[in-house]
Amino acid sequence: MRILLTGGAGFIGSHTAVAMAQNGHEVVLFDNFTNSDPSVLDRLEKILGFRPIFEEGDIRNYAQMLDVLKRYQIEAVVHFAGLKAVGESVEKPLEYFDNNITGTITLLRAMKDANVKRIIFSSSATVYGTPQYLPLDENHPLSVTNPYGRTKLHVEEILKDLCASDPQWSAVCLRYFNPIGAHESGLIGENPRGIPNNLLPYVARVAAGKMKAVRVFGNDYDTPDGTGVRDYIHVVDLAEGHVCAAAYSQTHTGWIAINLGTGTGYSVLDIIHAYEKACGHSIPYEIVARRAGDVASNYANPQRAFELLGWKARYTLDDMCKHSWNFQKNCE
Ligand code: NAD
Ligand code: UD1
Repeated sequence: MRILLTGGAGFIGSHTAVAMAQNGHEVVLFDNFTNSDPSVLDRLEKILGFRPIFEEGDIRNYAQMLDVLKRYQIEAVVHFAGLKAVGESVEKPLEYFDNNITGTITLLRAMKDANVKRIIFSSSATVYGTPQYLPLDENHPLSVTNPYGRTKLHVEEILKDLCASDPQWSAVCLRYFNPIGAHESGLIGENPRGIPNNLLPYVARVAAGKMKAVRVFGNDYDTPDGTGVRDYIHVVDLAEGHVCAAAYSQTHTGWIAINLGTGTGYSVLDIIHAYEKACGHSIPYEIVARRAGDVASNYANPQRAFELLGWKARYTLDDMCKHSWNFQKNCE
């Protein structure tokens, strides 16, 4: 298929570009580089042996979206483009609503006008809010606690209404759990600007000696070691989930939400210890107060992904840390 990847230069988009291309799809990457760097294209060229097609632009530009969709005769869109920092979304809600919601509506209008009615959307396990039971399946009640989460839930609902309005549409909302790791080449991975908000990039920087110590947000949760438990998933597994979702969308119309997680939870201390194994030395950490808004545990029931997509995560936590470290060593 000819597939447009909005946000294709980002962390998950770049890994999905590799997986899609290696599974015989023609990909067109589209990005405005607000949270990525053009050098990713050189790195993708090294991995793939050819330079992927790239268009620089903003999903909020209707004319450009329409042009790209038509010019490359796109058959499906995987929609990663968006802003994703929870804390920043609380400070700048309008920017998040504009980028993530208005941007998606503009993209969908262009898709409708170009008669491209297949979309795979990057949603998040954040739409489950505080877990009422575990593991989280797709029927768990939805709620949000911040503007970022609201944009994900809102776009899911917009896609549901769109599918109800026209039976030709296919919308697969992939609810990601915690993507970490990197491509095993060490060429692409996650290297956030400034101080990382998420655990793994923070641990990676401490391991590399760029930061002093990991701050563990609370050790008095109701979990085996008292620290928060999450469902970490290798980004390459996640990327392969998109390949399976694209195949599914070729034969299925309508709206569906599907979890992409492993089904296994690991604590903050598990992560630090696994990373110590990967980098070969100890990683300093200190226990600090809980972070506002955090829950004790969060992990997926990945059964639907297996049943509908034939997809299952295959990498272990040790692989995730090893590949992350491989990438981190190459970062400036
Ligand atoms: P990322 O920031 O690395 O990638 C997003 C890309 O979109 C960036 O390259 C950015 O430059 C681009 N972009 C942003 N706004 C744009 C716009 N208006 N027009 C064109 N390009 C634009 O993030 P990621 O981790 O790869 O996440 C991809 C998607 O998955 C996001 O929608 C995110 O909300 C969602 N998601 C991510 C996680 C995670 O932990 N990484 C978890 C759940 C959901
Ligand atoms: C966070 C977001 C979520 C988003 C996801 C991916 C919040 C409340 N949730 O998920 O909406 O989809 O990132 O972008 O922000 N931790 C530390 N020290 C750190 C960082 C984190 O101990 O420096 C702990 C946290 O308390 C948590 C775990 O590590 O228990 C994972 O945190 P993080 O990587 O930020 O992911 P989530 O909070 O699960």
